[in-house]
Amino acid sequence: MNEHFRPVALEHASRLINHGPTVLVTSAAGGRRNVMAAAWSMPVEFTPPRIAVVIDKNTWTRELVMASGAFGLCIPGAGLADLTYAVGSASGRDDDKFMRHGIVATVGAVLGVPLIEAGCAAWLECRLIREPHAEEAYDTCFAEVVAAAADERIFAQGHWSVREDNQPLHTIHHLGGGNFARAGSVIRAKSP
Ligand SMILES: Cc1cc2nc3c(=O)[nH]c(=O)nc-3n(C[C@H](O)[C@H](O)[C@H](O)COP(=O)(O)O)c2cc1C
Repeated sequence: MNEHFRPVALEHASRLINHGPTVLVTSAAGGRRNVMAAAWSMPVEFTPPRIAVVIDKNTWTRELVMASGAFGLCIPGAGLADLTYAVGSASGRDDDKFMRHGIVATVGAVLGVPLIEAGCAAWLECRLIREPHAEEAYDTCFAEVVAAAADERIFAQGHWSVREDNQPLHTIHHLGGGNFARAGSVIRAKSP
């Protein structure tokens, strides 16, 4: 190791690679709905578009997702950092977090999942792909993305546009313990 490198406790190792955008996982089943924060999500396939997200088996979200076979991923902007932390710190099992926090949700046209637009940069409607082993052993839920939309002020023609004038929509990246990095500037690598 060079002079600047120090060992990292393995319990913190995931934090080294985990500042992809924190997402809000939305779900609904049996007349109930819910939203929780998730830092552990990622794309796994371009075509068809597939993603994976870790949804702990103790969460209310997990029960709703297993019951409905669907969930939404909403990408909160920096203006929703407090809300993201709040919905990631308490369960909605006993009361509706949308009501508790005054969150306005629409209903996804394809899967009927709750979708949050105000303050979010984008959303994806996701149909669960049953993988019982991955779900049970790793709490990892795979899904196909069947619809998506983004706020054109920050994502248009397939590209993010992170600028000074759209800061409240910049994605947030969980660093642990309620600390988030905000996507702040774009650096463009020169052509190899
Ligand atoms: C920033 C942040 C990121 C989180 N990431 C995840 C995650 O990736 N997977 C997970 O299962 N829980 C994650 N959690 C915890 C859940 O959001 C938390 O357990 C939540 O209260 C579950 O709510 P529910 O019981 O209403 O579904 C995270 C919490 C925070 C604050």
